[in-house]
Amino acid sequence: MPSKAQPKLRLRNVSKEYVAPRTGQRTLAVSDFTLDVRAGEFLCIVGPSGCGKSTVLNMIAGLDQPTGGDIEMDGHHVRGPGAERGVMFQDYALFPWKSVRDNVGFGLRHGTPGAGLTAAERNDRVNHFVNMVGLAGAEAKFPHQLSGGMKQRVALARLLANGPDVLLMDEPLGALDAQTRMVLQVELLRIWGEAAEEGDRKTVVFITHGIDEAVFLADRVVVMSSHPGRVSAVIDIDIPRPRRESIRSEPRFGQLTDEIWSLIRDEAYQAIA
Ligand SMILES: Nc1ncnc2c1ncn2[C@@H]1O[C@H](COP(=O)(O)OP(=O)(O)OP(=O)(O)O)[C@@H](O)[C@H]1O
Ligand SMILES: [Mg+2]
Repeated sequence: MPSKAQPKLRLRNVSKEYVAPRTGQRTLAVSDFTLDVRAGEFLCIVGPSGCGKSTVLNMIAGLDQPTGGDIEMDGHHVRGPGAERGVMFQDYALFPWKSVRDNVGFGLRHGTPGAGLTAAERNDRVNHFVNMVGLAGAEAKFPHQLSGGMKQRVALARLLANGPDVLLMDEPLGALDAQTRMVLQVELLRIWGEAAEEGDRKTVVFITHGIDEAVFLADRVVVMSSHPGRVSAVIDIDIPRPRRESIRSEPRFGQLTDEIWSLIRDEAYQAIA
């Protein structure tokens, strides 16, 4: 049994070197990346473009293997993908030919999360999460009939319906307009369990380009530097929960976003130069 003190995720000196198949050219994308993620924590990762954020997330997801170091979940070595770690990407990755209901229920019908459930139980589960993300009434619609914000909600409902312990999110709100994004940030905190006991919250690793998004959401923000990707700082976000819209205009919010921006500013300019 995982003890309370044991981190949910433990990354120890993780590195990833890509080798191009034809040229043999090596890219050290991530080096010596060490981090513990606590159970129930909302952790955001920010850093300049190309610093290795997605590489780190994909390795936690088990979609990619580290070339050095070790990743553990609940004390067990991560060897590959698992239903207890759900992944959500920026581009929704919905099935265009399936309805909202069938997209949300896909993992329950075809994967391990739904094994042992009756058809009626699966249906109830799909309905529960469709309602939770505010899509009741849209169950029969297809992705092309939905706005970007609605598609993102479908992807979120699908992720949650599979019942993962750990949510791995790679810029999940990146494609949205600023207003929809702010609304979904608040909803995401509600769904994560901001109002619940810490022990009842999911563990979230959330990648974003938005420093203000990271400060709004996170318990801690990991700032990465690039070439190779490393942890350059870990910032505690000491803004009380529940986080309301009004915190965005508070001085502490501005101080934290300024502090984080100052850590990545130079590299961010270099990345696009
Ligand atoms: N399959 C691959 N083969 C070779 N190099 C790769 C591969 N995937 C990523 N890289 C390189 O690894 C580095 C980190 O890439 P990664 O996608 O993790 O960055 P990122 O921080 O997610 O960037 P962004 O913010 O733009 O999404 C980059 O230099 C990238 O070019
Ligand atoms: Mg990325």
